[in-house]
Amino acid sequence: MRSKIVAGNWKMNKNGTETEALLAELTAKLPNTSAEVMVAPTFVNLSQAVTATQDSKIEVIAQNMHDALSGAFTGEISGDMLKSIGIQTVILGHSERRAYFGETDAILAKKVASALEQNLRIVFCFGEELEDRKTGNHFAVVKSQLSNALFSLAPSAWKHIVLAYEPVWAIGTGETASPEQAQEMHAFIRTTITEAFDATIAQNVSILYGGSVKPGNAVEIFGKPDVDGGLIGGAALVADDFSAIISAI
Ligand code: PGA
Repeated sequence: MRSKIVAGNWKMNKNGTETEALLAELTAKLPNTSAEVMVAPTFVNLSQAVTATQDSKIEVIAQNMHDALSGAFTGEISGDMLKSIGIQTVILGHSERRAYFGETDAILAKKVASALEQNLRIVFCFGEELEDRKTGNHFAVVKSQLSNALFSLAPSAWKHIVLAYEPVWAIGTGETASPEQAQEMHAFIRTTITEAFDATIAQNVSILYGGSVKPGNAVEIFGKPDVDGGLIGGAALVADDFSAIISAI
């Protein structure tokens, strides 16, 4: 059985004081749920967030990492460093990393391999741009993103992978994929994984939807059979909204 997951990606938001405050509010308001709940504050606040959430069911996760273990990579953070402060999960391949920081499928394949070597769980993001959808290329784009970064993995690696389908045109825009569009793509992703690996792996991997998920649309999106939860940006910065989205699952 695959897990239900609601993960909040805080991006470059919330300083140390604000991180403490949001986590305190979130911990107090957290609905009773069997779903996994994750939040990804910025690197500098991770340690403090791990401490602040140690008695709650919230897992603190990282937004990114470098593929090298250590070395001359000014400004970067390794998986080993994340592990050393108690982080178990890392987001890789977010569309903002791809668009603004030049992360290609090849770079992501190296990051995935490195994260797995560090025994980190990965929330792997991918999704098409508006132009791809308009031209009917969205399935091909998603398939190639998956295949370039993940299809050389050993089958056993898949238990450490969570997928997050995030159509770029829906991120931070207020425009959401319809529940039907999300379901259609998630079902396609499972078929693609079945073809590349097998049906057991495809059925066991959690596939989150991301892109303008809000309290008002979460129930409908999460209600689709192949949607196992969400990766939440803007709404994860407001404790009431994030709690409501968790309740929706
Ligand atoms: P959004 O961001 O919910 O603000 O659209 C989602 C994401 O970037 O993961």
